[in-house]
Amino acid sequence: MGLNDEIKRRRTFAIISHPDAGKTTLTEKLLLFGGAIHVAGAVRSNKIRKTATSDFLEIEKQRGISVATSVMSFDYKDIKINILDTPGHKDFAEDTYRTLTAVDSVILVIDSAKGVEVQTRRLMEVCRMRATPVMIFINKMDREGKDPFELLEELEKELNIAVTPFTWPAGRGSDFKGVYNIFKKNIQLYTPEKSNLSELLMETGDISDPALEEYVGPETLSQLLEEIEMTTDLYEPFQKSLYLEGYLAPVFFGSALNNTGVLEVLENFIEMAPSPKKSESYERIVRPDEPDFSGYIFKIHANLDPRHRNRMAFMRVCSGIFERNKLFYHTRLKKKMRFSSSAEFIANTRSTIDEAYPGDVIGLYDTGSLKIGDTLSEGEVLNFKGVPNFAPELLREVINRDPSKSKQLEKGVRQLTDEGLAQLFLQQPGNRKIIGTVGELQFDVIKFRLEHEYGALCDLRPLPYVKALWFTSEKPSELNEFLNRKASFIAYDKENAPVFFAESDWIIKVMQDAYPSLSFHKTSESFRITS
Ligand code: G4P
Repeated sequence: MGLNDEIKRRRTFAIISHPDAGKTTLTEKLLLFGGAIHVAGAVRSNKIRKTATSDFLEIEKQRGISVATSVMSFDYKDIKINILDTPGHKDFAEDTYRTLTAVDSVILVIDSAKGVEVQTRRLMEVCRMRATPVMIFINKMDREGKDPFELLEELEKELNIAVTPFTWPAGRGSDFKGVYNIFKKNIQLYTPEKSNLSELLMETGDISDPALEEYVGPETLSQLLEEIEMTTDLYEPFQKSLYLEGYLAPVFFGSALNNTGVLEVLENFIEMAPSPKKSESYERIVRPDEPDFSGYIFKIHANLDPRHRNRMAFMRVCSGIFERNKLFYHTRLKKKMRFSSSAEFIANTRSTIDEAYPGDVIGLYDTGSLKIGDTLSEGEVLNFKGVPNFAPELLREVINRDPSKSKQLEKGVRQLTDEGLAQLFLQQPGNRKIIGTVGELQFDVIKFRLEHEYGALCDLRPLPYVKALWFTSEKPSELNEFLNRKASFIAYDKENAPVFFAESDWIIKVMQDAYPSLSFHKTSESFRITS
């Protein structure tokens, strides 16, 4: 199969949701329906549980498993599906945002009783920013939830996206009877507890089948028919181009736990979700079908095996073909590198891969030369866009508790922040180390990992800032004045770019008024032009 055919048959996407809406369950069911796993429960164990905030050992254990499930690939009807896992916990939002830069589309899961939630909104903002095509799965129809029409209206209003239903629920809550496929005009009946695909297919029936009334009951049937008619009046006919541009989201109803409505998602997904798209770099647009290989790192797991200090870097292939053992050019280090142990992730196992194509995400074992945002190519200098650092909102100073271990602490802080877990800023005088995160949980994880992986003990002293913002100015004199006058609120990130620690949003406004030429940035990418 040639490069073009390989590209065409790939679908790389992420399932996103507010925690508890059913992301893990849907992921698992897609794997099950795709034939990649045979029993339910395989993905479930990957989840960082909500109760685990103080249970670090549990996090560690799960981290090990989550390496294997960071990406899950399988073939379904000749389509290669790559699902990228995103952590559900809000404190890992940054990791999720970065993962979203490596996908070509997303499936958003909504809890039918809760509708749009905080995380749903945030994640969708990122998708809208990048015009990522979105499919929506409204889950838990077997529970008492909101009215489907109301939910669709809420989605449109709150997420600023047009929607059109592809399936419709027959009954809901305790009366939930199945899911009607608006295009195929057939119905998939609600079959709790069944996980066998052939059993499910047998229960998909024609809407005009008289046996249907008997099964769903005359009331639910007439309500279904009436509502389907309303949907044709209320919603514009589906236009694939609008979906691909990120303006229109097809909506599916169902119950992931009970396998209902999942097949509709999978079938429609492989048919219309986009294959790998062009990637934007600072230098130029890179097409996936270009013969020369290029790819970038968007995620790193450090210390997979504490005895070997190795890490796994996750790379998305953007163009050409990745080949194991071939020399590739590391743009940042300006040197050639060879990767002999590249891994692919089939369902929940890891194995060596010799070749990878655009859209694929592979794991590269590495001893420290790869960082988030790094590009590999066949020689061309490329820096891919979309792997930004976000303005941290929680800042703490690292205080060494054991002077004899300062080297270990230094190394640990550097490596863990390379992993993207948090950001490191250095402040003078004294080279003070300040760690910035978007969530509390990262601090606990960092402290725990510093101790267990590097043998370094530290305290993380809270600082009274609400934001660390990068800043630039076109007027060197004003920039210098600001740097001098506000020195005690300024530190430098790993690339030596200055950040301003703000004690309140109000201060930022005051500074903006006092130094009009200054631009404050919420992501490092919005100003940093890598060379
Ligand atoms: P998440 O990854 O988005 O956080 O959600 P997850 O799939 O873990 O689902 C959250 C909870 O919702 C789980 O229950 C799961 O069983 C349940 N759930 C998922 N889909 C459905 C559905 O279609 N109907 C109903 N009624 N429940 C659903 P839990 O009790 O928190 O976990 P567990 O003990 O089942 O593992």
